[in-house]
Amino acid sequence: MANPHSFGTGIRATKAVIPAAGLGTRFAPATKAVPKELLPVVDVPALEYIVAEAGRENLKDVLIITARGKNAIEEHFDAAPEIEAALEQKGDTDRLARVRRSTDLARIHFTRQRVARGLGDAVAHAEAFAGNESFAVLLGDDIIDERDVLLSKMLDVQAERGGIVVGLIEVEGRFISLYGSIKPAGEVIDGVIEIATLIEKPKPEEALSNLAVIGRYVLPPEIFDALRRTELGKRGELELTDAMRTLGQDGVPIHGVVFSGRRYDTGDRQDYLRAVVRLAVEHPELGADFSGWLVEFAKGISADAIDEAGRTDQ
Ligand code: UTP
Repeated sequence: MANPHSFGTGIRATKAVIPAAGLGTRFAPATKAVPKELLPVVDVPALEYIVAEAGRENLKDVLIITARGKNAIEEHFDAAPEIEAALEQKGDTDRLARVRRSTDLARIHFTRQRVARGLGDAVAHAEAFAGNESFAVLLGDDIIDERDVLLSKMLDVQAERGGIVVGLIEVEGRFISLYGSIKPAGEVIDGVIEIATLIEKPKPEEALSNLAVIGRYVLPPEIFDALRRTELGKRGELELTDAMRTLGQDGVPIHGVVFSGRRYDTGDRQDYLRAVVRLAVEHPELGADFSGWLVEFAKGISADAIDEAGRTDQ
């Protein structure tokens, strides 16, 4: 009998889940009162870039998973009558449109994760929202530059082939322990690779390849049952990677789309700073002045201050 999971439905997912309930310990103390997902990247919170990405992909319903102490996330995606009235009075129509944009990007829903028990647990909170449909997961601190294609291709691959699709990047071996690592089941063909299995945050010597899972997934509704069957991992968290591996063992196909474009993990201080500088340089209003300042500033940085190894934060 043909594997019932081997074929897609031909229909692209229309729902997105954005987990944003993590503690953000890597960014403390900034994250004591401000959710890391709301840290501004130039003048827009990181999370708005991600909701906008979902909107561009026609993921019309977006469920944001928040937590205690993160109410500001709901405020951001609501109307802001006082700010709007003040901008209207000043005649600042551009900024007014940008303030209003966050409420128009998608139909946004919220639910709360009670305890930060891991990404798998956060995704488990989306069961009623997803129903019987496949859905996309976009991590609330992982920005993909809108000029580079990833999610769009992932949604197409999932519609065509069914099962699970994850976003992948190539990383140097010493950084694999920050990510999920995949074991390929074949070659990369047109940017897509079949995955045999995957593990979360391996030691460099245990890595299955140099392909690492990043914060974009398209998941079938069977993931919820797999999450129920998954035990807490070695970090004491319910790992989405472990539930995906279980589904793979059940015969559900897993594919990866390899991404080589611009991506910023805004939960990592180094990457966050890079995102702010890069997007400030490219900003239509601020870019020219800021770039001029940056060039002069960079001339004053001594070579001694440059640490080649300091590429990632933990
Ligand atoms: P991270 O792996 O960055 O974890 O989560 P974290 O707890 O937020 O941050 P650090 O490591 O302590 O600095 C990736 C995404 O998954 C969400 C986070 O909000 C983030 O968007 N997440 C993580 C949850 O929603 N719930 C969790 O229990 C864990």
